Amino acid sequence: MRSHLCGEVNETLDGQSVTLCGWVARRRDLGGLIFLSLRDHAGIIQVVIEPDSPAFADAERLRNEYCVRLQGTVRMRPESQWNESMPTGKVELVAEAVELLNASAPIPLLMTDEDGEEVRLRYRYLDLRRSRMQHNMRIRAKLNQAIHKHLDNNGFSEFETPILTKATPEGARDYLVPSRVHAGKFFALPQSPQLFKQLLMMAGMDRYYQIARCFRDEDLRADRQPEFTQLDMELSFVDESGVQDAAERLVRAVFRDVLDVELPDPFPRMSWQEAMETYGSDKPDLRYPMRLHSVDEHVKHLEFRVFSGPANDEGQRVAALRVPGGAALSRKQIDTYTDYVKRYGARGLAWIKVNDTAAGIAGLQSPVAKFLDEEAWSGIAALTGVEDGDLLFFGGGEWLETSNFMGQLLVRCGADLELANEGWQPLWVTDFPMFEWDEDNSRFMAMHHPFTAPQSDSAEALKADPAGALSKGYDVVLNGAEIGGGSVRIHKPEMQEAVFKLLGISDEEAQAKFGFLLEALKYGCPPHGGIAFGLDRVAALMAGEPSIRDVIAFPKTTTAQCPLTDAPSAISPAQLDELHISVKTRVE
Ligand code: AMO
Ligand code: AMP
Repeated sequence: MRSHLCGEVNETLDGQSVTLCGWVARRRDLGGLIFLSLRDHAGIIQVVIEPDSPAFADAERLRNEYCVRLQGTVRMRPESQWNESMPTGKVELVAEAVELLNASAPIPLLMTDEDGEEVRLRYRYLDLRRSRMQHNMRIRAKLNQAIHKHLDNNGFSEFETPILTKATPEGARDYLVPSRVHAGKFFALPQSPQLFKQLLMMAGMDRYYQIARCFRDEDLRADRQPEFTQLDMELSFVDESGVQDAAERLVRAVFRDVLDVELPDPFPRMSWQEAMETYGSDKPDLRYPMRLHSVDEHVKHLEFRVFSGPANDEGQRVAALRVPGGAALSRKQIDTYTDYVKRYGARGLAWIKVNDTAAGIAGLQSPVAKFLDEEAWSGIAALTGVEDGDLLFFGGGEWLETSNFMGQLLVRCGADLELANEGWQPLWVTDFPMFEWDEDNSRFMAMHHPFTAPQSDSAEALKADPAGALSKGYDVVLNGAEIGGGSVRIHKPEMQEAVFKLLGISDEEAQAKFGFLLEALKYGCPPHGGIAFGLDRVAALMAGEPSIRDVIAFPKTTTAQCPLTDAPSAISPAQLDELHISVKTRVE
């Protein structure tokens, strides 16, 4: 039907006859001339229909988003009208024939970035016609292709794992599917292929990968969807560095293929402890030239309890954040930051504007300056490297909570003041604690998941000090986003049983939920480990989109609905009956 794609028409085709198919992105009538912007997946071309053209009457009837086929001659635009930002910007098509392939009802959205999320998702097939969305979806497709290419060439095989399965604990709620043939029983949709990929290692498959759909019923945000895609990998006979090397090589190959970007080799590594201490985050964004400084040593001796209290307490800290140029912030802006950190549990936020470093305390402007002495200040100034015109924020309190709210503040200030450096900053975060303490339920939770191996091979050592135990888990972070996480797994039944016990999972419960895994571990399970990348997050970063919804063809809203199909929806009483289900709240 067509000789070229719209986006391919350029000056090399000057004077040639071409036939194009696409949609009318815009139509303007200018003093007898009709201008069309014709769009297909490859780009947009300007079309002119002159008044004496046999196509003129047909062109007059065209409206936005009509689907058309145009035949015409490519012509150079006058130089003054060149649009250098478009590949087609030096030419136009002088249309000689216009064939209407299909009309369109009036378009219910603007087809611009101004459209709201709800209407965009309701008419997703129109929203996706836009160049930005076409670009995003093609980046995603290229990413998938690059992954297959690299892994297929490096000894990995893709195997599929079940969608109708049993709950895998990744820490979220399960989506459940009722069984018709087994009354009262349910399948769970996989939160990840975790247990199956481990079973594949036990089955001698050696190196597995899968581009796998995962389902998690959790509270949604810009970087979370109820169904999302992982690039899931698992390798036998490896330690942490074996998995990390394979994963890094993949990420580097993919960035080279898709974006022509060279990432560092190797990626830098940072322990979880150091990440929390210096960035207040387990996913440090190394693009920001800011870090947290522990000033405890310099404020221990002060009368000021807000500082000396935490500074003298083992489990607490006083962290300082230097904001370059921050002295220009208004009182109101500082109050906004104080309210912001309070959301993360801070009781307050102290600040110092540094007007004149040479003047010592006299050069400071701050409600807490009067509580400092020269010794404290000179120590803080040297440690933070503060300069005239900077601002220092201070947070004091419980170590983890303070690190966290100061880390949130770092990113917020960095973003507000546009302090991020250009480029890509990957990072491995390693040496995670094995467990975190769940205050509400007074029990340990797995920091990663219950199948992650502790660094110590001794179950006795683990039981003796679970709170201090580190795991063989790791995350990959890119520009402050957690794009992947994994671990070396427990491959001995005794250790798996010990970890279940520490997690408060009884023997009966362990048997009922994971009996198949415990049994499989008995039959010569190889040492193994792996990782899963959040593919939507990688695609969003590559496309420069803040939300993963913009790289998913048909995503859900933040309330986990699909406005296009109206899912989830009520089902008929007959269907419910067949599934042995009675619903408490009937909705129409
Ligand atoms: P984890 O739970 O860390 O690990 O998930 C791996 C990666 O998946 C992405 N991700 C998500 N992306 C979009 N929406 C969500 N709701 C969502 N949840 C997670 C993140 C995350 O880093 N089985 C383990 C992996 C392993 O141990 O090999 C797992 O699922 O980018
Ligand atoms: P207060 O003694 O509560 O009046 O606080 C004195 C100053 O210390 C105020 O500027 C508070 O914002 C600040 N402040 C209070 N609690 C903290 C905290 N946990 N960390 C840092 N600064 C705090």
